[in-house]
Amino acid sequence: MTATIVLTGIGELTTNDPELGTLHDAAIVLDGDRVAWVGPSRQAPAADFQLGVMGGAVLPGFVDSHAHLVFAGDRAAEFAARMAGEPYTGGGIRTTVAATRAADDDTLRLGVARLVREAQRQGTTTIEIKSGYGLTVADEERSLRVAREYTAETTFLGAHVVPAGADPDAYTALVCDEMLAACAPHARWVDVFCERGAFDADQSEAVLRAGIAAGLGARIHANQLGPGPGVRLAVELGAASADHCTHLSTSDIETLSTSDTVATLLPGAEFATRSPYPDARALLDAGVTVALATDCNPGSSYTTSMPLCVALAVREMRMTPAEALWAATAGGAKALRRTDIGHLGVGARADLVVLDAPSAVFLAYRPGVPLVKGVVRNGELAWQR
Ligand code: NIG
Ligand code: FE
Repeated sequence: MTATIVLTGIGELTTNDPELGTLHDAAIVLDGDRVAWVGPSRQAPAADFQLGVMGGAVLPGFVDSHAHLVFAGDRAAEFAARMAGEPYTGGGIRTTVAATRAADDDTLRLGVARLVREAQRQGTTTIEIKSGYGLTVADEERSLRVAREYTAETTFLGAHVVPAGADPDAYTALVCDEMLAACAPHARWVDVFCERGAFDADQSEAVLRAGIAAGLGARIHANQLGPGPGVRLAVELGAASADHCTHLSTSDIETLSTSDTVATLLPGAEFATRSPYPDARALLDAGVTVALATDCNPGSSYTTSMPLCVALAVREMRMTPAEALWAATAGGAKALRRTDIGHLGVGARADLVVLDAPSAVFLAYRPGVPLVKGVVRNGELAWQR
């Protein structure tokens, strides 16, 4: 028998469940790792343990569906140069590749552990982790092995950039063949950086098709630095998500709107590269499913903070606080094709965040303030302020 816990005195409970909606003066009962009951606080059934949250807001744990956490070193100097006027080109990826190859497994492991913990303290209960800073068969494989120790949502991104000195087509063939064979056992997803200077439409298609044939789901870095074929390709191949979506044409938006492909927006990247933000309003108004994620990586977005992404989406991308919160939770779950997370309906995984604030609007209203007071993951108190 599993223990039950009841959280009472919830000022605002965001469930993302179409029937339950958002409740006030609510309670939620967790039975083991699942949500067992949701309703008014005064009707809450008895449970083995009771936790009063004193009017705080409760929301589903954030689902960060896009992060690059397996790397060594940092690129603070590149960031400083950029803030002094240098453009972001993605060229710095190779600096991180050199540092990552030189690091031993434990160094990589400690780096991932530190970032996963940091994310958790800010309310993230599910995180996707990509490889992509190894770019050899052995380094990509060990990156995914390390990532797997921390999440089930691992992504093979051997096609991040073409390593210095390699021939692009020969490298693409290596990714599709030997590298994929070594990495697929540790990965759920395959990803490619489809961009001028990284992989073109044909190379990207080859990588994604090879990954799909090996049993992986597809996702893609699309239209980040300029317009391109990424979004169209994502939809054609039935990718779960097209990520970045910073430079979209009207037809890209139309294509997304008639598909199951989620548009994952990564405002931390625009913030840290001083770039124009994606047009979230156009996507939402066209009926596209939008997710928000951190893109945490040492080059373009060195943040693990989903609350920061929510605040940026609201202030800079004209999403409403409710839209941003949904995108950071349920949207991320859809981008990972998960139905057990991103909501707090009965039967959902017991992953939730308690805020030191009366409503989730405060995430954007009080930017930069550590409002997360407690995090429950798999029904267990994972962190408490
Ligand atoms: O998603 N665009 C490609 N990859 C990362 C950046 C990686 C880096 O600069 O190290 C991104 O922004
Ligand atoms: Fe990325």
